[in-house]
Amino acid sequence: MNAKPRVFVTREIMQEAQDLIDQHADMEVWPDEEPPSPDILREKVAGAQGVLTNIMDRVDAQLLDAAPGLKVVSQLAVGLDNVDVAGATARGIPVGYTPGVLAKATADVGFALLMSAARRIGESDRWVRDGQWTLAFHPMRWLGMDIHEKTLGIVGLGQIGLEMARRGRGFDMRIIYYSRTRRPELEAEYGLEYVDLPTLLAEADFVSLHVPLTSETRHYIGEAELRQMKSTAVLINVARGPVVDSAALYTALKERWIYAAGLDVTDPEPIPANDPLLTLPNVVISPHVGSASLVSRGAMCMLAARNLVAGLEGRPLDRCANPEVYEMKKD
Ligand code: NAP
Ligand code: GLV
Repeated sequence: MNAKPRVFVTREIMQEAQDLIDQHADMEVWPDEEPPSPDILREKVAGAQGVLTNIMDRVDAQLLDAAPGLKVVSQLAVGLDNVDVAGATARGIPVGYTPGVLAKATADVGFALLMSAARRIGESDRWVRDGQWTLAFHPMRWLGMDIHEKTLGIVGLGQIGLEMARRGRGFDMRIIYYSRTRRPELEAEYGLEYVDLPTLLAEADFVSLHVPLTSETRHYIGEAELRQMKSTAVLINVARGPVVDSAALYTALKERWIYAAGLDVTDPEPIPANDPLLTLPNVVISPHVGSASLVSRGAMCMLAARNLVAGLEGRPLDRCANPEVYEMKKD
């Protein structure tokens, strides 16, 4: 009987997904809350045929070189900025990822942050818990920004950006977008207007970021862009922290170039306790929980497990970020 292929799973995942992998592989699951260090990760993957990673694991050329038997990298996420996908392709290794099962959950969090920042929910909750709610009601206190019938600007109209736009439609918002690829069919279906980035920044009451982190999108929103936004505007980032220049964002919020921000992602993560952003009332931050609903995470874990098993068995992955590896194999 052939020995089962060895796989390393870099963090505990849903039991059902572990059970599926267990049926097909000799599996080691990293038991700690903290991720394995790069050295340990390299050591663990060196003799493995498969690895199931998440956004905290760096899958770089060094790791790929250390693992000559690796047949598949399965990432438990949609974002792949921690994975050298081109390096994997060059080595003929398919990279799995998890689109299609988390966009709605992530947009739910994006919209929750949008509403919380606009209507000052995080700030007012902290105030109540602080024992400061001593005057029952005052007509001039806690005034925030309306959401309904305002303009929502989507930057990056992919799966999550579109879900965000759909939520905006439910609030009777005007939806404008800027994205690398114009999507006329979606414009017609959802009543979206394509604009260039400067127009979006100038016209949107809410600027919501949904681009992947790449060399092009690092600090996509910096001082110049923040200065183009309305002083009443709210910035939402559920993409990746470094898409925004945090130092510029701090100044923009402090000096009220913009009204508020809602962030599910920060730079770095976790945000240090002494980060100046945490001193500001007009920012609400969640700890990278976009896809963290029970159902979505369950679906992500199962998809990542299926991708891993398919790669071990030499079958095409359900969701592959570099399908060109299969073309290369035919050559
Ligand atoms: P997606 O479907 O690939 O959408 C990304 C969109 O951004 C695409 O429309 C893409 O254009 C566009 N884009 C790429 N580079 C651009 C650029 N330089 N300028 C303008 N537009 C650009 O991805 P998604 O599933 O919506 O996810 C987006 C990102 O969200 C992920 O990469 C990840 O970093 C982040 N995310 C965060 C969480 C969380 O928990 N907070 C959860 C999931 C994902 P094309 O159509 O031309 O490709
Ligand atoms: C989460 O951040 C993801 O990219 O899926």
